[in-house]
Amino acid sequence: MKISVAEQAGFCFGVKRALKLIDEYHRRGKKIQTYGPLIHNLPVLRDLAAKGITQAGSPAEIEKGRTLCIRTHGVPRDVERRLKRRGVPCLDATCPLVKKGQKIIERLGRGGAPVLLVGDKDHPEIVAARSYARRVTIINSLAEARALPRSREIHVVAQTTLDTSFFKEVVAVLLDKAERLHVHNTICLATQERQEAVRRLAPKVDAIIVVGSRISSNTKKLYQIARASNRNALRIETCDDLRRPRVAARLRTFRSIGLSAGASTSPQELDNVKKYLHKL
Ligand code: F3S
Repeated sequence: MKISVAEQAGFCFGVKRALKLIDEYHRRGKKIQTYGPLIHNLPVLRDLAAKGITQAGSPAEIEKGRTLCIRTHGVPRDVERRLKRRGVPCLDATCPLVKKGQKIIERLGRGGAPVLLVGDKDHPEIVAARSYARRVTIINSLAEARALPRSREIHVVAQTTLDTSFFKEVVAVLLDKAERLHVHNTICLATQERQEAVRRLAPKVDAIIVVGSRISSNTKKLYQIARASNRNALRIETCDDLRRPRVAARLRTFRSIGLSAGASTSPQELDNVKKYLHKL
């Protein structure tokens, strides 16, 4: 069995930065709480919990005496304001590229321009981003793009982890919808590189495995891309998912397997999978 790892896979710059920030604070003996899960990665979250780093699901759950770490996806503006008013000490681990998108939306909103945001309306990044302007419409399908009314001007912004091909398709639809179309390509480079790498690798192998959390948006996109060109695409959360006898038996039938991983998957997890496949 030949195992090939995608050229870009696993932890991105924003995730590494967030983990480094929290680690530095923890080493200094500070008591920390994260606002929601810091990143979408269960083993990492378990590690943080073992270090006594707790999670607050809402401002009401914030414990006194703890520094609150803002997750990579950011928080809505009203939450930020409430935290400031209450004087909660914060460590901002929002990814700078997520921040960049928020600033674009804020600037457009100040000028009164309506903003079209392409992404998953329930994802924490989008929940936070939409709070930066009053006139924000969220779409997440070509059908929704086609259903938009014609207007003089459209500013379109993307979720950082959106599939680049999908964004291009949405933009193509929008060309017929406005006299002036402004495209703000806010898909982050780490996402683009990981998507391109899996797009290249998937058709060259018998099967492809994408490692990452079930709630990770970028992992989901990688899996969809892999699946589009390889019907033996498999999505797993950790190496344990491969140990089930039926899965292991199926894997043994492949002569080549490709590996990819979402931006919040650790190098250790990727390594565990690689080692397990070699053993098989
Ligand atoms: Fe940031 Fe992109 Fe990672 S937005 S958190 S570098 S996937």
